[in-house]
Amino acid sequence: MKLLRTLQKKEKYSTPPIWFMRQAGRYLPEYRNIRSKEGNFLNLCYNPKLASEITLQPIKRFGFDGAILFSDILVIPDALGIKTEFIKNFGPKLQNISTEQDLYKLKLNNIKNHLNPVFEAIDIIKSTKPKKTNLIGFSGSPWTIATYIIEGGSSKNFEKTRSIAIQNEIFFQKLIDILIDSIIEYLSYQIEAGVEIIQLFDSWSGILPESQFEKWVLNANKKIIDNVKNKYPEIPIILFTKGAGILNENICKNINFDCLAIDQNLPKNWVKENIQNKYNKIIQGNLDNILLCYGSKDDIKKEVLSILSNFNEKEFVFNLGHGVLKETPIENIELVLNIVNNYKCNTFV
Ligand code: CP3
Repeated sequence: MKLLRTLQKKEKYSTPPIWFMRQAGRYLPEYRNIRSKEGNFLNLCYNPKLASEITLQPIKRFGFDGAILFSDILVIPDALGIKTEFIKNFGPKLQNISTEQDLYKLKLNNIKNHLNPVFEAIDIIKSTKPKKTNLIGFSGSPWTIATYIIEGGSSKNFEKTRSIAIQNEIFFQKLIDILIDSIIEYLSYQIEAGVEIIQLFDSWSGILPESQFEKWVLNANKKIIDNVKNKYPEIPIILFTKGAGILNENICKNINFDCLAIDQNLPKNWVKENIQNKYNKIIQGNLDNILLCYGSKDDIKKEVLSILSNFNEKEFVFNLGHGVLKETPIENIELVLNIVNNYKCNTFV
């Protein structure tokens, strides 16, 4: 309950709630064990029993305050009828979409039907999770999902998506609008099924210049958040605009959300002054996932303490600046939990 109460600003705890992005995944032997028996990643996402078990694996092992639903941001294109696969040692591969004609073929009313196993998983998690652990639902944001659809998978420079958004804005706006509607529907069903908190992942928002950022990141997330907040004012919304830098100020100025998830690149002083103080937003994150994976125990400890001393004066959620890497040693995660949970005892200072 600590995570939910912090995000609703109902309580300020001496030690912050803690969970990690991508906490349910391949760095865990118990995940790899289930994964090795199921060749197809999406089948795992659509298996309510296994998806609920994987969601709770990091909770059983570490006792995080939040459990993020085991699923993926690419279930939305899959539900829209865009063929989506996860190829071993390669990553996601999506059917190519690049014209308005392609958009007419999409299945627009398929969210409830196609993603019903996700809602069933939420139902199971709700009744089996520890009471003190809050369940976090999520979706990718329109811009980030659109990059996978246009590129046909992951990309290094997003040239195809960036050029289409400039050259064929009408088509791109239509795609973004379809995604906005689908995401609103998806999040609403997740909330109805029992998630207590929502996180929106705009993982590639940082590649856009200001005017494009306003169109595809700011406006799109605002439409989703306004709609969901209107229907479910009690459900806290965390927004992760990775790489957005000082454009995060525009996000805070214009969108009515509860918590800004910040990456590892933002300077702590800037965040404190501009996000925590000026806009009075709760923040989450900032621990470098690469440091967590490859850093020495001493360096990790120093950074965790620096994050705590900078951010914990106000409501704050301890998290990473991006997801846990699959090579991350379990003991490094235990070290961070230990420092965070004992912060006020001064045993580590
Ligand atoms: O623990 C959790 O965070 C819950 C589950 C979750 C996954 N993906 C599981 C997953 C969440 C919240 C995501 C979000 C996601 N997926 C994002 C946004 C967050 C971010 O990291 O920026 C993005 C961009 C994706 C798209 C995606 N999914 C890619 C590019 C890949 C392949 C690369 C990789 O990391 O493997 C995935 C696969 C994926 N999603 C895995 C997991 C556990 C690994 C698949 C496997 O087990 O084979």
